[in-house]
Amino acid sequence: KRIAIFASGSGSNAEQIASYFADSTDVDVSLIVSNNAKAGVIDRARRLHIPVLLFDRKTFYETDRITQLLQKQAIDLIVLAGFMWLMPGDLVRAFPDRIINIHPALLPKFGGKGMYGHFVHEAVVAAGETESGITIHYVNERYDEGQIIFQASCPVVATDTPEDVARKIQVLEHMHYPRIVADVLKNID
Ligand code: GRF
Repeated sequence: KRIAIFASGSGSNAEQIASYFADSTDVDVSLIVSNNAKAGVIDRARRLHIPVLLFDRKTFYETDRITQLLQKQAIDLIVLAGFMWLMPGDLVRAFPDRIINIHPALLPKFGGKGMYGHFVHEAVVAAGETESGITIHYVNERYDEGQIIFQASCPVVATDTPEDVARKIQVLEHMHYPRIVADVLKNID
């Protein structure tokens, strides 16, 4: 099975997933797709010897280049890990139930437009939540609203800053995302 990981930022989840499958004989992280030439994920991909494809917004949305390319590369699963752009409709339609995403909160709370990265943890702290967590879900055209696959939670205490919450969330992400990717792949014939 072949995976393409999409990432716009540091890429720590991409690295965790690539490392998890490094010795696998039947799962290959074939490609990393990004929209940010300066993203940390580019350096990680280079160290991991994984090819990187960079897209600008125009090509990503105004051509079907990404869809054509992923089909040509026989990609079985698209894994979003901190990718900041919405999926183009034709890509979602070409890969039904074959795109998953991780959101650093317990959807449906703290989801939707603008709720990404640090803003999520700030909102969780500001709301006085006593827990937060991660949500891994299928991606459809309405972004954070696809069917939920897995959730894990962590406590949030009154003294927690958004950075404290971010650290706890990242531990959950690295602990669970690679295994959930493996589970989803098992259900792909
Ligand atoms: C993670 O918090 C993930 O939940 C969110 O974007 C962040 C990606 O972090 N979608 P990294 O680039 O994998 O370190």
